[in-house]
Amino acid sequence: MFESRQLSESVSMRVLRPSDAAALATAYVRNRAYLSPWEPVRPEEYYTEAWQAADISNRLVAHEAKEGYPFALFAGDMLVGRFNLAGIVRGPFQSAGLGYWVDSKYAGRGVATAAVQAIVEIARDELGLHRIEASTLLHNGGSQRVLLKSGFRQIGMAPRYLQIAGKWQDHNLYQIVLHD
Ligand SMILES: CC(C)(COP(=O)(O)OP(=O)(O)OC[C@H]1O[C@@H](n2cnc3c(N)ncnc32)[C@H](O)[C@@H]1OP(=O)(O)O)[C@@H](O)C(=O)NCCC(=O)NCCS
Repeated sequence: MFESRQLSESVSMRVLRPSDAAALATAYVRNRAYLSPWEPVRPEEYYTEAWQAADISNRLVAHEAKEGYPFALFAGDMLVGRFNLAGIVRGPFQSAGLGYWVDSKYAGRGVATAAVQAIVEIARDELGLHRIEASTLLHNGGSQRVLLKSGFRQIGMAPRYLQIAGKWQDHNLYQIVLHD
């Protein structure tokens, strides 16, 4: 079973723990302006330890039910990214969705690509999933590059797909098929 993975000399990845709430809130405060063009509008409480503790708790319930993997990236004690494999559906679909961000100070060093590639391996070899889906804003060239470098391929464009930065925005859709 997945414990943790070293992604670079200084950054490792593991599943979130209840004790990560303060570090997660601090990371969202530190990256608030940087993430705002790429994320939904967040309520003020989102940036508090209490809100993040409740969110981690909900995600760990889903994780126990094998419906999701809430990964976090760490550089020492500092939380420097979130990668969320969520909405795992079994039966004939065997599919999950992937969303992510990397702290502004750690971006541009290959960390996101290493994390996505590790998650692809976990999804294929440990979870036995058939596919992972991800979506990006049409102008998110960095995220698109991460997906393409990790073996995802574009499967379409969904008009007005997600409400990001307060607007329903078009997204490119990507998938990776994990088994022949
Ligand atoms: C997108 C994000 C996760 C990338 O993380 P990262 O650790 O910098 O990614 P990597 O270093 O592994 O790879 C980035 C790649 O994109 C390229 N890139 C960066 N900005 C780019 C742009 N505007 N257009 C095209 N390519 C770009 C880099 O050159 C690199 O490719 P290369 O290795 O071939 O040179 C990070 O920038 C981020 O968190 N952004 C804000 C939140 C976000 O957009 N999340 C994803 C929502 S879909």
